[in-house]
This record gives sequence, C-alpha cells and structure tokens, in this order.
Amino acid sequence: MAKEKLAETAVNKIEKVFGEHKTYRRAHSRGTGYEALFTANGEGQNWTVAQHLREGTTKAVVRFSHSSPDPFWTDNLSPVKGMAVQFQLPDGQVMNSVGVTSPIFFSRTPEVFTEMLDIAKSFKKGKPRLRDLIKLFIKYPESRAAIRIIRKMQSPASFATGLYHSIHAFYLVNGTGQRVPVKFQWHPEAGVESLNPVEAASVKKGDFEEELEERVLSGETAFRLMAVIGDADDPVDDPTKDWAKDRKKVELGRLVLKEQTDEAEGLLYDPTILAEGVECTDDPILHFRNPAYAISYMRREGEKQKES
Ligand code: HEM
Repeated sequence: MAKEKLAETAVNKIEKVFGEHKTYRRAHSRGTGYEALFTANGEGQNWTVAQHLREGTTKAVVRFSHSSPDPFWTDNLSPVKGMAVQFQLPDGQVMNSVGVTSPIFFSRTPEVFTEMLDIAKSFKKGKPRLRDLIKLFIKYPESRAAIRIIRKMQSPASFATGLYHSIHAFYLVNGTGQRVPVKFQWHPEAGVESLNPVEAASVKKGDFEEELEERVLSGETAFRLMAVIGDADDPVDDPTKDWAKDRKKVELGRLVLKEQTDEAEGLLYDPTILAEGVECTDDPILHFRNPAYAISYMRREGEKQKES
C-alpha cells in the first residue's frame, strides 16, 4: 500500500479506537503552547552547519502534550508526554524537533503500527487490555521492550520535569559533508521528576497545563538540548531499539520558555521538516509520520474552519 494510503488507514484506525475528536490533533490531542528562545552554546560548530545549533539565539514555538488521542482523558491516563519544538530561523527556514518521555517506540514499521491498532482495539484506564497485550507480545516480539516501558511508566511530575527523546536518529552534517548519527534529547533544568502512583491518581484534567503556566510565571523554566552521538554499529532505522546508555552526549544549547501562545495549536510539527545541516535517517516510522501528521492537520484545520 502506498505510504499516503496507509497513513490514512492508520489515522482512521486511531479515530476508531480512541474516538473522532473534531478540531483536535488525532494523537497528542491536548496540549499547551509557549513562545521560547533557544541559545546555542557554540558546541554545534563542531558538528553541523545548521545555523541555529551553531550560534546565537533563535525563536521557537513549543507545544507540550498528553499523548492520548482522546482530549478528555485526565492527565495521568497519558503517562507519556510530548514536547514539540519548532525553531523559526531568521532566514525563514523552520526545523521541528519532536520528543516524548519514552526512549523507544513500539512498532518497527508503519505496517506493524497499523496492524497493532487492530489488536489494541480497547483501551481501559489508558492502557490496552491484558488479553490484547498478550496477543501483541506474541505477534511482535520487537515491540515488547517499548510496551513494557510504557506500561511501567509513571508520568513526569510536570511537563517541565520530563526528559524528552526524539526516539529516531538524525544526521548532523558538517561543512565537509560528513554525517554523524545522533538522537536528540531535551533535558529539564528543573531535574527529572515523576509522579508516584498515589500522586498520579489525584491528577485531574488540565492540572499539567495549569502547573506549567504557574511555573513559567514564577521563574525561569528551561531545557538543555543534548545530541547523543551514535557509534558506527548503532541502528539508525529502528525506533524500537535504544542505543547504549554510555554513548557520548554533547550539549548544544538552552531553550527558555517565555510566554504562553495559541500559535502552537495551529502548527504542524512534522519531524521530517529540518534545517540545512540536519538530515533524516532511513527510519520508516520517521518517514511515515510525514503523511500521517499532514492528514491529521488537514482534518483538524478543516473542522476548525467549518466551525468558525
Ligand atoms: C507510526 C508512527 C506514528 C504515527 C502514525 C503518529 C501519529 C501522530 C498524529 C496523527 C499526530 C497528530 C499530528 C497533528 O495533527 O499535527 C501525532 C502527534 C504527535 N506525535 Fe506521533 N505518531 C507516530 C510516531 C511518533 C513517535 C515515534 C513519536 C516520538 C517522538 C511521536 C510523538 C508525537 C508528538 C509529541 C505529537 C504531538 C506534536 C504536536 O504537539 O503537534 N509520534 N502523532
């Protein structure tokens, strides 16, 4: 099946499992946006020609989100949180960097992702039923690691205390055309902090958005952008596999949240849109996100226009 057709099938299936929530994103439906400033620390000059990662301060629009496609789930039912950053470069280029609080994804290919939606037809209290999970474990052994992580995962205590992973590898390209594989991570300056199950149980819908706004108004809230440098043998096309924990990490700069903005809700954070100096790997899930996000974007923006 062509990539676009399969992406449409996948988005239709997401709607079937989680409901069709008009005007919302078909995944990570509820979130909150911030204007932000990213300041490069100069380390990027050793790795890439991408201007915003080499020097100076660049405007960004950030959206934090709960992963559920259903916007009415309470915040604790989505232990996986998202952080989408759009760098808006002065020369008009944009680059999206989209991360989640899990280091790996649960499907290796778009075909497996779409099939998995058939099996995980039912979600109870934010998690697939045990019998569905057992079926998934048997059919897709490579998905076990991610599903285990997600089932055990506790939500961060705040959007500002999550460690966000790009999951996919990308290439940083330097002035001589040399390409180095990296995975991006956003590290919270407030430190990584998770809710315990008792705390998680008392979280209501919208608490995370409210807490973040209070935090930003009362003090500086920032993240450090890290590039994890891949070894020659590290897989660059398999989002179900993490790299070894001892891989070298370089810090590229610091992102400070400034003011809440509605701009993020209307943006399309397609992770394949990158600035010159950063390139996609051949990860099939990364490339599948391009048509899937476009379909979700067209649906939600079309619905908003009809409503207005
Ligand atoms: C088969 C693979 C995937 C599919 C089909 C998929 C699908 C989607 C869709 C339809 C949206 C809503 C897009 C929009 O309306 O703008 C979305 C948003 C999102 N996805 Fe995925 N996704 C996939 C993989 C991933 C992976 C591997 C990550 C990990 C980084 C991820 C993180 C996110 C985040 C953080 C958002 C919210 C972005 C925003 O705030 O606009 N997704 N996804």
